[in-house]
Amino acid sequence: MPTVDNPTEKTLAELGIRDREAVIEEFAKIRERFDFQIGLPADEIRKLMLQEAWLGSESEPATSLRNFWVGRKRGVLALINDNWLKPAQPVLKPVVGAELNRLKTYIETRLEKKRLSLVEDQEKKSSAKDRVDLSLPGVIRPVGTHHLIRQVFQEIEDIFVSIGFSVVEGPEIETPYYNFEALNIPEFHPVRDDMDTFYLELPKGAPTPLLLRTHTSPVQIRTMEKRQPPVRVIVPGKVYRRDNPDATHSFMFHQIEGLAVDADITFCDFTGTIDYFVKQFFGESVKTRFRPSYFPFTEPSVEFDVSCVFCGGSGTAKSGGTCGKCKGSGWIELFGAGMVDPAVYGFVNYDPKKVSGFAFGIGIDRLAMLKYGIDDIQAFFQNDVRFLRQFP
Ligand code: DAH
Repeated sequence: MPTVDNPTEKTLAELGIRDREAVIEEFAKIRERFDFQIGLPADEIRKLMLQEAWLGSESEPATSLRNFWVGRKRGVLALINDNWLKPAQPVLKPVVGAELNRLKTYIETRLEKKRLSLVEDQEKKSSAKDRVDLSLPGVIRPVGTHHLIRQVFQEIEDIFVSIGFSVVEGPEIETPYYNFEALNIPEFHPVRDDMDTFYLELPKGAPTPLLLRTHTSPVQIRTMEKRQPPVRVIVPGKVYRRDNPDATHSFMFHQIEGLAVDADITFCDFTGTIDYFVKQFFGESVKTRFRPSYFPFTEPSVEFDVSCVFCGGSGTAKSGGTCGKCKGSGWIELFGAGMVDPAVYGFVNYDPKKVSGFAFGIGIDRLAMLKYGIDDIQAFFQNDVRFLRQFP
């Protein structure tokens, strides 16, 4: 129930209004009342609307004020239409109609202005609180790529996995037994000179010395200890040596070991597999060859070469002189390999009379350098984005 005596609830006749001037005066009073209300601060409007029992479910002041004045059924303008205009005497009708229209336009315009200014106030308040500048570009986090070494690992793993090898890994901290003895490299064997490495400082009385593995070959032993033939694995990983850093040496580098052992693996299986791999990696047009070599854990041992990827195997550089990469030979040494030495089977309880197999050890950094024309191994470890970005 409205608590304020409301003239719009009555007809003009009931209000005692009988001429033009009185009509205009009555409209002026209504407009004054509107002006007063709309000039109030938001809180006061809210209070007033409550007082007028008008608020209903609408607590937002601009909307409740609008409903109060222009609401279809019970708004002031609707009441004027019903109570003043409709029952007005014919002589007064034109002036009541004209005044009502004027008032309507006036109220609509001011209500809209008020609404906009309230919205603006609200925005100012909340943006001062949050201080989020929505026009700022978002935080761009560049998505990185794999390091070239990781990419080459992946490439090589994919090739071997596609021909039935699986990927296994082993510890970088090893015992001399796995790194040397079980690979048929007893203490004081001369090849240990090439594989000087880092030893861990251990408490006195430790059962065995520990070292950083010099190659991925110990994982051959660890794998054969755990599995019975047939075995077909590759072993990617980091290896360490006490080498001084230069363009081709680093105290940490990467290898992929390969091992295939079964009942009837031949030298042909061995060279065929390696040839397949090298051609997949460097392209069908390269040639491969192997030369006799020596490793304590293979017999016979070989060194695999690929026809020089820089001069196409001709030995002559594009510029005309001797190819600097293969020194005119047309061949580039790739990696060591061989048929597993029967002595190694003795360490893992395989019967050398029943099984045979081959193994290889690929230097990843070296292969990546050859394939991508990189002439300094240190570039892999310096984290210079100008270098890294060339291999997205
Ligand atoms: N482990 C050797 C090295 O790091 C590489 C190697 C040679 C691994 C022949 C093998 C192999 O498996 O058969 O120098």
